[in-house]
Amino acid sequence: MKGEVLNVEVYGASHASAIGVKLSGLPAGTEIDRAAIDALLARRRAVRAPWSTSRIEKDEYVFLEGVNGCVTDGGTVLAEIKNTDTRSSDYGEFRHVPRPSHADYAAMVKDGIDEVTPGGGRFSGRLTAPLCIAGGIAEGILLKKGVYVCAYVSSIGNVEGRSYKDGVPAREEASRATSDPLPALDKREEMLAEILAAASSGDSVGGTVECVVYGLKAGIGDYMTYGMESAIAASVYGVPAVKGVEFGDGFSLTRMRGSEANDPFAYEDGKIVTLTNRSGGINGGITNGMPLTLRVAIRPTPSIAKKQHSVNVLTRENVILEIKGRHDACIVPRAAAAVESAVALAVLDKILAEEAKQAR
Ligand SMILES: Cc1cc2nc3c(=O)[nH]c(=O)nc-3n(C[C@H](O)[C@H](O)[C@H](O)COP(=O)(O)O)c2cc1C
Repeated sequence: MKGEVLNVEVYGASHASAIGVKLSGLPAGTEIDRAAIDALLARRRAVRAPWSTSRIEKDEYVFLEGVNGCVTDGGTVLAEIKNTDTRSSDYGEFRHVPRPSHADYAAMVKDGIDEVTPGGGRFSGRLTAPLCIAGGIAEGILLKKGVYVCAYVSSIGNVEGRSYKDGVPAREEASRATSDPLPALDKREEMLAEILAAASSGDSVGGTVECVVYGLKAGIGDYMTYGMESAIAASVYGVPAVKGVEFGDGFSLTRMRGSEANDPFAYEDGKIVTLTNRSGGINGGITNGMPLTLRVAIRPTPSIAKKQHSVNVLTRENVILEIKGRHDACIVPRAAAAVESAVALAVLDKILAEEAKQAR
């Protein structure tokens, strides 16, 4: 993510010796909240659950640069995680056969190679672990500013759970959900059944993650590509498997009349609020003081056990691919932590940019 103040660069690959993140733009003396980082990493980590890969990494990270004790020193923060559980042999038999809808084929063309990079290389969901380190740093800073970011699972396959569109969940309720490996506000059992049904047939299933940002003041962001929506969308699309982002009522607004879609203003306790929040707390790319809400589409995991049509790029033949590696039948529960990290980083960047402007 290249922000106005912050720059976040994730590096490494699924089966490389290490993965990490470089985060620049934080002023010296910024406190690092390790509890916030650990919480996000734990939510992203694979668990012994029916939807989860059996590749379980501890994700122990070290700060190599930029942090002294618990505070930043003003330089680039560099955090790294050693990969400990790689198994590249899973890819041997089909090493010239790209997995449908993974990044294999596109990356082969881009990188000028004829082999699939084991574990998805730099396109692996594994790279969301260092993203969560940066996200945890951002969340710790935001919390001190009274801003709280929370992402939860809203739907899995055809099971529609609670959405902010039915009323923004109280911060405590959303926060409570995140302590569960399947962080849904309701319909948890039905969602689990949907995942098990996909997994038991060697298939995968997707879903939606919703994210709410509480405590934002009005006036943060700017017009067009400088706006809050642009920054958040760009950051969230950095999370692998994200295929759609909508703010507030998003696409549902297209089926409403203006009279229904507009959020009327009112004074409440001397403060300007809107009586509905269909715009998701943003107008013209700028926050309006209401909770910022977004909904993110996560595709079904591309790597499935079912046989699929593909091609061998070396022999130039059509082949039937049977994937044997370790993959999540549903990545949505784990993706929630990555989405939350991406949102926290974009929001913090816009707040820091606004603070710098005010200080001038
Ligand atoms: C936390 C997380 C874990 C993932 N694990 C897998 C996996 O085990 N197998 C897989 O095929 N894709 C997995 N993905 C998704 C792929 O990385 C992603 O679909 C691929 O890079 C192609 O990118 P795209 O779907 O954004 O086009 C994961 C994504 C995330 C966020």
